[in-house]
Amino acid sequence: MLDSMVLVLLLVMNFAGPINSLVAPSLFPPPSWAPNWDLLASTTIQPSGDSYFMPNHTWGLISLDWSVAKSVWMRHGRNRTNCEAVSVEGCRRLKAAGKASRCFIYHNMELALEWEETQRKVMYDPSTADYFLQYTDGMGNKNGTIYAENIEEGDQFFWDYTNPKAAAYVISSILRSVDDPAVDGTFTDDVNGFPQEHESATARINMSHQQLAALQAATRVTHAKLVGELVKAGKYNWQAFGVGDGAGVTCPSDPKGCSAFMQTGCDPEMQSRPMMMDAAHADNQTVAAFLITRPPIGFIGWGWESGDSKWPSSDVFLLKPGEPQGLCKQEQPGIYSRQWSKGKVVLNCNEWTASLPFSHIDQPSGGRVKSVSADVLVE
Ligand SMILES: *[C@@H]1O[C@H](CO)[C@@H](O)[C@H](O)[C@H]1NC(C)=O
Ligand SMILES: *[C@@H]1O[C@H](CO)[C@@H](O)[C@H](O)[C@H]1NC(C)=O
Ligand SMILES: *[C@@H]1O[C@H](CO)[C@@H](O)[C@H](O)[C@H]1NC(C)=O
Ligand SMILES: *[C@@H]1O[C@H](CO)[C@@H](O)[C@H](O)[C@H]1NC(C)=O
Ligand SMILES: *[C@@H]1O[C@H](CO)[C@@H](O)[C@H](O)[C@H]1NC(C)=O
Repeated sequence: MLDSMVLVLLLVMNFAGPINSLVAPSLFPPPSWAPNWDLLASTTIQPSGDSYFMPNHTWGLISLDWSVAKSVWMRHGRNRTNCEAVSVEGCRRLKAAGKASRCFIYHNMELALEWEETQRKVMYDPSTADYFLQYTDGMGNKNGTIYAENIEEGDQFFWDYTNPKAAAYVISSILRSVDDPAVDGTFTDDVNGFPQEHESATARINMSHQQLAALQAATRVTHAKLVGELVKAGKYNWQAFGVGDGAGVTCPSDPKGCSAFMQTGCDPEMQSRPMMMDAAHADNQTVAAFLITRPPIGFIGWGWESGDSKWPSSDVFLLKPGEPQGLCKQEQPGIYSRQWSKGKVVLNCNEWTASLPFSHIDQPSGGRVKSVSADVLVE
């Protein structure tokens, strides 16, 4: 849904695609990362869990949920938590073990969280109390008491992005917290902002419609600015893939749905955008749809609270297609292909069959590939 606010933003940011493109303009710029066509490096999961996350399999992008290593960052008690430092350490460990080529840590676009150190810093300082939503008189005037919904792990305040200082603080503090070579970006949960998942808060705060509309508009502007700053810093944002907290849509298995998915994905304009695609059951057809349509920055996998158990028993992610030699081709109605350096990927939407004429490598361990048979072409 494009409202006028976002439209204005688009014009300013100038990411609109060519006039003849059939696809809607993109809201966010791609990351500044070099293309990575490797299939394994293009997989993704968003794990949760109580200890440091160390999967048995190697993945591409691993986006750590806030709950990861909770037993570590909660160790010193509710008011001495250090989720950001522990999350950064989690990324360092994953990279050192060769288990992830990209790693994101968690922030929340709606909430200020006590257990994130850079946020706690301003949550209890009287001089920054107006960074947060407070109870109001129904006309937008704050009464001096911050509105909070606290949980076992810590206090949760709500960022007031209509205060430009609050917006600037969120952006600079997130940039600081991802400023480690092991961290490639952030997962900004609840990206639509207030009152996502906290619907009754509007009434409790006695928030007017105007105040809510202004807050939501300011949230979108702040998120777009944050993404711009992350890109400049060589980092990125899960939600900038346009998939919310999930991994986006997958290629449907029915002929009509499959063709529609491929038709959209095959638009050359899509090559200039980042892509994230839900892997569903990670069957060959789904992986073929990904390889035929994927842009230089493309990921296939699972979002919110997925994990290592998603690894497909077929080991399909270990296939080595090489590099694409061109773009998607529609060979016949419903039949799509793309030439890769190691062979031609074909997806037949009419019969829901696929051809992936590539060999596997063994699962790399410790960042090294044990044996490589990728040059052997299996027909
Ligand atoms: C790795 O494999 C072991 C043995 O099968 C299992 O106990 C463990 O839970 C697995 N780790 C993950 C992160 O799934
Ligand atoms: C931390 O919490 C404990 C009890 O939960 C309390 O006694 C202590 O004063 C708190 N410290 C700070 C710095 O707030
Ligand atoms: C809520 O706002 C209305 C005006 O919209 C006002 O009449 C009412 O007193 C306010 N309630 C509280 C608890 O401040
Ligand atoms: C602001 O309003 C809330 C809810 O009515 C109330 O609990 C709080 O005490 C008020 N704060 C001040 C400083 O009046
Ligand atoms: C998927 O593709 C691989 C590689 O071509 C092949 O070895 C495997 O048999 C295929 N799986 C199915 C279920 O067709």
